[in-house]
Amino acid sequence: MATPVVDKEYLKEIEKARRDLRALISSKGCAPIMLRLAWHSAGTYDAKTKTGGPNGSIRNPEELKHIANAGLENAVKFCEEVKAKHPKITYADLYQLAGVVAVEVTGGPSIDFVPGRKDSMESPEEGRLPDAKQGAKHLREVFYRMGLSDKDIVALSGGHTLGMAHKERSGFESLPWTNDPLKFDNSYFVELLKGDSSKRLLKLPTDKVLVEDPEFRRYVELYAEDEDAFFTDYAVSHKKLSELGFTPP
Ligand code: HEM
Repeated sequence: MATPVVDKEYLKEIEKARRDLRALISSKGCAPIMLRLAWHSAGTYDAKTKTGGPNGSIRNPEELKHIANAGLENAVKFCEEVKAKHPKITYADLYQLAGVVAVEVTGGPSIDFVPGRKDSMESPEEGRLPDAKQGAKHLREVFYRMGLSDKDIVALSGGHTLGMAHKERSGFESLPWTNDPLKFDNSYFVELLKGDSSKRLLKLPTDKVLVEDPEFRRYVELYAEDEDAFFTDYAVSHKKLSELGFTPP
C-alpha cells in the first residue's frame, strides 16, 4: 500500500482524529487496551529483516487471532469508529496515535507524534511479542531484535501502570498492577519495589525480572523515586517504539 501524503489536509485530519480519540478513550475508559494495541502493533518489529512493526497489519484477522493479541479486537473496533470519520488516515498512524492519546488522557507525558506510516496487510509470524512467563534473557532477545535497549525495556514496561490482566485472555489472574489502573504515573515501579508485600496487585514473571536483574533494577529504582525521569524516558522510548521501521517523511 502507498505511503500517505502528509500535506496540510492530512495533518488537519490527524488533529481531528486526536480530538475524537480523546473523547472516545475518556468516555469508554479504554486507554489500557488502546495502549496495548499500539504496543502489539509495533512490537513485532524485526530490525534485521525490517519486517513487522507499526504498519497496521494487526487488523488482519490472521494476526489479531495470535494468542498474544487476545482482547485487542475490541480496540481495533473502537479505532474503526475514528477511521470511518477520517478515512484518509492510515491504520498504521491511527493505532499509534491512539497509543499516544491513551497515555496523554490518563495523565502521562506528551509523546511527539509524527504521521506518515504506510499500511500493510502482511502479518509477521506468531511469536514475536514477549512471553510473560519468561525471564530477562528472553526480554532482551525480543526488545534487542526491535533495536531497543535495556532502558527502553524498563521505561516501556511502565505501560503496565495502566490496565489489568484478564484470565480469559492471557491466563493470568485478573488483577491490575497498580491501585489506579486508569492513571498513568510511576506507581508500577513503586509497587514493583515493594515485592510481594503489595497484595492483590499483579506481577508477571517479566515484571519481576526488572527488580532481579541489576541492569534493569537501576532504572526501576530511578523511576520509582523520580516520576519526572520516568515520564521523560517513557516519552522517548514510546516514540521510538511507535516509529520502528518508519522514516518520517
Ligand atoms: C497487559 C505482557 C510490555 C502495555 C498485559 C498482559 C500481559 C502482558 C500478559 C495481560 C493481558 C490480558 O490478560 O488482558 C507483557 C509483557 C511485556 C509487556 C511480557 C514485556 C515487557 C508492555 C508494554 C506496554 C504494555 C511495552 C506498553 C507500553 C500493556 C497494557 C496492558 C497490558 C496497557 C493492559 C491491557 C488491558 O487492561 O486490557 N501485558 N506486556 N505492555 N500490557 Fe503488557
